[in-house]
Amino acid sequence: MSVKESIRTLLEEHRGEFLSGGEMAEQLGVSRNAVWKAIRQLETEGYRFDSVSGRGYRLREESNVLSPQGVARYLGERRDLFQVRVMDEVTSTNTVLKEMAGEGAPEFTVLAANRQTAGRGRMNRAFYSPAETGLYFSVLLRPKLSAREALFLTTAAAVAVAEAVDALSGREAGIKWVNDVFLDGKKICGILTEASLDMESGGMECAICGIGVNLCDPPEGFPTELRDTVGSVFGTQPPPADVRCRMAGEILTRLAAYYEGLAERAFFDEYTRRSVVIGREVLLMDVLGIQPPRPATALAIDRDCHLHVRYEDGTQAVLSSGEIRVRLV
Ligand code: BTN
Repeated sequence: MSVKESIRTLLEEHRGEFLSGGEMAEQLGVSRNAVWKAIRQLETEGYRFDSVSGRGYRLREESNVLSPQGVARYLGERRDLFQVRVMDEVTSTNTVLKEMAGEGAPEFTVLAANRQTAGRGRMNRAFYSPAETGLYFSVLLRPKLSAREALFLTTAAAVAVAEAVDALSGREAGIKWVNDVFLDGKKICGILTEASLDMESGGMECAICGIGVNLCDPPEGFPTELRDTVGSVFGTQPPPADVRCRMAGEILTRLAAYYEGLAERAFFDEYTRRSVVIGREVLLMDVLGIQPPRPATALAIDRDCHLHVRYEDGTQAVLSSGEIRVRLV
């Protein structure tokens, strides 16, 4: 580990407390000058320190820098489960993590980024991923599931995100079938889970679960085409200190628990309780764009996460997320 990473780890572990330059230098077996240089480098990355002569350096509570050490602070007993990597800019955390998976990265590797230049959403759409105001990360899983069951990863992740949003915002997030997290009628988080199949067994080789949360409105606002439908957890209010690391930790700890309980569908009751579609009038949009939008009433979601609907002519249908997406009316 470089001196800078070691100093980052020490200061993150003692966030809010003073550590003297001499102590850190001695502990790491480096010169005081090397410590000073590392502190300056960390400042250029966005860390903010108080420095008091005779006491040393203190990492300010509010420093909002996404770092592996920062996320680890909020992982509690799952700290050793996840291996978190952070990059400043990537095309898409899903794309890069998929490459890492191909090179043998272990299960529970997490790749987070400050910004994505080609963030991807479901149905080949782009996912708007500006720097600083959002949290973008992907988790590598190697579950023993069929491709059909992979859907449960994504619905479990939606519940993990909704609960984490509640914990940090003090409000209650909803879920729009199948996995969009909503607050105040707007989408604040999208999830894209992509699976690689093992051609011989037909089972799943790995799954990449990518999560993008809009934490705050971007300073220039969301692009015009998104403004009516997309929002953020904290809007234009200042977010809590260290919000990106906290949110990542809150989501990952819950995701780990739901992942363990996936066979029993431990997420399911909370998933349906948070549904913003059950009982609502909706427009059913054909994902292939062949059929015109069709109005219906959403009746229920079953344990396979299929949506039961009644059309205007009184007939009913059971739909999967691979064929239909829902628009609230
Ligand atoms: C959607 O709303 O259609 C899904 C959006 C998923 C976005 C996340 S951000 C992290 C990960 N990397 C990506 O390119 N996409 C997912």
